[in-house]
Amino acid sequence: MRLTTTIERSMEKVEDAGVLDKVSQPLLTAVRRLTGASPAVTDLLHGVPVGHPVHPAMVLLPAGAFISASTLDFVPRTGSAVPVLIATGIATSVPAAAAGFADWSELHPQQQRVGLVHAASNGLGVAFYAASLVARLRGRPVSARVLGLAGLSAIGVGGYLGGHLAYRQGAGVNHVEDVPHLVPPGWNDVCAIDDLPEGRPALQHLGDVPLLVVRRGKQIDVLSDRCSHLSGPLHEGTLSEVDGATCVTCPWHGSTFALADGKVVRGPATVKQHSFDVRVEAGRLQVRLPHAG
Ligand code: FES
Repeated sequence: MRLTTTIERSMEKVEDAGVLDKVSQPLLTAVRRLTGASPAVTDLLHGVPVGHPVHPAMVLLPAGAFISASTLDFVPRTGSAVPVLIATGIATSVPAAAAGFADWSELHPQQQRVGLVHAASNGLGVAFYAASLVARLRGRPVSARVLGLAGLSAIGVGGYLGGHLAYRQGAGVNHVEDVPHLVPPGWNDVCAIDDLPEGRPALQHLGDVPLLVVRRGKQIDVLSDRCSHLSGPLHEGTLSEVDGATCVTCPWHGSTFALADGKVVRGPATVKQHSFDVRVEAGRLQVRLPHAG
């Protein structure tokens, strides 16, 4: 109980450590310059094509290699297995870090502070393993083992911080998962058609669920309003045409969704918005969400 409280307080201090922003800001500028140069590659790094972030999966390669290396370090006659595993861990940490930094650049400040320490811990871990590899090649097995264990410890701390970032702070998770559970099945009355502005995003509510409603003549599109990335208000976003499809862009981090079906057109969001079936009955808008309830 006391340990839990101490850990929670430590994490809150990291979240509130504004001093970390002095490091984050120039790093953010550099990362955004890179991600802005190639939106298609950036969407790949976010995980848009697979529907959720790829960073956690990519981390398995270096983490698995490093853990295996430190375990085999205490097994006799493993030949070149340990150096090969360490080299594999170092090499695969590069794309994993690239995906992590792409995601990190589109988070809230509290999340970015934790993410910065997470990245620093993992970077330190990789540096320890690199030093361990060098010590090994120079014929210093004891130093190599100790440096490997130091690397494993640093990566363990980084893993804990990554878990905090995802499970406690909600970075990378789907922020609209609850919508189908809150919307009653079947058709639901929303508002009078005359209450909807023409050609502009509007906010309506279906019980506790905010809806983005866009009316363009007889065409009415309805999506869940909270952005799947980090709950940004889509009704405050902007409409645009992308490849012939009308889309809404989130005002917070620029995720872009097709109005017709909620599909992600541009990350950092990786999960599509819920798209509602629409009908008009006696001058009133009614909506239905497939798979609701
Ligand atoms: S909340 Fe981040 S893009 Fe919408």
